[in-house]
Amino acid sequence: MSRKTNTSYVSSKDTVPLIPSAEITQAAVEAGKMILAADGVRDKHVTAKEGTANFVTGYDLKIQNYLEERLALILPGATFLAEEGGDDLAKPSDGFTFVIDPIDGTANFIRGLRNSSVSVGLLYGGNPVFGCVVLPYTGETFTAEKGRGAFVNGKPIKVSERRLKDSIVLFGTSPYYREELGAATVETLGSFFMNCQDLRRLGSAAQDLVLTACGRGDAFFELRLSPWDIAAGALILEEAGGVITDIEGRPLPFDRKTSVLCGNPVNHREILELLNK
Ligand code: IPD
Ligand code: CA
Repeated sequence: MSRKTNTSYVSSKDTVPLIPSAEITQAAVEAGKMILAADGVRDKHVTAKEGTANFVTGYDLKIQNYLEERLALILPGATFLAEEGGDDLAKPSDGFTFVIDPIDGTANFIRGLRNSSVSVGLLYGGNPVFGCVVLPYTGETFTAEKGRGAFVNGKPIKVSERRLKDSIVLFGTSPYYREELGAATVETLGSFFMNCQDLRRLGSAAQDLVLTACGRGDAFFELRLSPWDIAAGALILEEAGGVITDIEGRPLPFDRKTSVLCGNPVNHREILELLNK
C-alpha cells in the first residue's frame, strides 16, 4: 500500500502528517469480522492472565497479530502499544503509535455475550489523532479524526444533552483490580445511582465510550483502565462534543493506566461536583 507523504493539515498543536484513516478503518472492520466468525465457537482457547478474572483467547492473539501486520504496512514506522503486546505501557514515540485492543470485552466474547469491540487508536506525539471502534455485533463502525468530528458508519454523532438526574450512566468495575478498587467502585456507584436515572454495566469500555459519544448512554466511568481500552474511544467522545477526564477532572494520560470519567459538558460538570462533595 502506498503512503501519501506530500499532504498535511494543521492540528491545534502540531502539524500532523496525513492520516490514512480509511485504510485503518478497513483493517479494524476486518478484525471485527474475525470476532463474528467466532460466534458459536465453544472452545476459544482461553488462558488466564495477571489479576482477577482476566483472560486471553486465541482470537485476541490472532486478531492483534492481524492488525499489527496490516497497520504496519499502512503506516510504516509507527510503533505499537497493544493489550496482548508484552510492550506493556511502553512510552508512545514522538511519531505515530497505534494503541490497539483486539477484543475489548474478552469475558463477554468467551461466553458469546455479544458485547465486544475492536479498538484502534492512533497517537501522534503521544496525543490521539485518530480513533476507530468497531462493534461487530451491531455492524457499527465509529470513527473520529482530531478536529474533524465523530461518525458512526459515516454519519455524524453527538453526545446527549441530558442532565445527570436524567442520565443513564455506563460503568466498568475494573475487575482485574478488585482487591484494590472494589470498595471504591461500589461506593462511587452508590453516589451515581442516587443521582442519575439508572446504571448499566455492558462489559467493554471502548463500547461504553462510543455509546456515550452517540448519546445512547449519557456518561461513563471506571476507576482503572489501560490506554488500549480508551485511546480510540476518548477521541471519538471528544469529537462528538463530550468531555473526558480522569475521575478527578484531570486530562487523560495515554501512557499509563488511569481512571476515566466522561459525559456531555453539563453532566460531566455535575458529576465532578457530586464526587467532590
Ligand atoms: C475490559 C473491558 C471491561 C472493563 C475492564 C477492561 P478486556 O477489557 O473493557 O469492560 O471493565 O476494565 O479491562 O480485558 O475485555 O479487553
Ligand atoms: Ca480492553
